[in-house]
Amino acid sequence: MSHDLFEAARAAMAKSYAPYSKFPVGAAIRADDGKIHVGANIENISFPQGWCAEPSAISAMIMAGGRRIEEIAVIAEKLPLCTPCGGCRQKIAEFASAETRIYLCDDQGVQKTVTMGELLPYAFETDLLR
Ligand code: THU
Repeated sequence: MSHDLFEAARAAMAKSYAPYSKFPVGAAIRADDGKIHVGANIENISFPQGWCAEPSAISAMIMAGGRRIEEIAVIAEKLPLCTPCGGCRQKIAEFASAETRIYLCDDQGVQKTVTMGELLPYAFETDLLR
């Protein structure tokens, strides 16, 4: 992974709005358009209404015209290895393949690399809906 994806995720984390959990998270996607799209978690005083960094980045990608996640980096200030939550795994999978790499970062860089297939085995999939 090039250093710019990590730096983008870290910069995105700095923009997190997490006054309730005080747990900033950042995500950066390199998309099929070659561009980097970023997101952070954005919380709400009505707690369930907040959302994660990964869907923020996916939203930025889609609205910029990107359609596929080539690779994605995730970083959380307070957790050396912040694996995407279950809901985020499903959301990432929509735009990824089983081989897509997910970089788990700390403030020094990538600490672990996993694939989509490892994060979400036996993912829901059917040609009936395609
Ligand atoms: N969070 C993310 O942004 N991504 C994840 O994959 C895990 C959790 C956020 C949600 C909430 O704002 C905070 O981390 C604490 O759960």
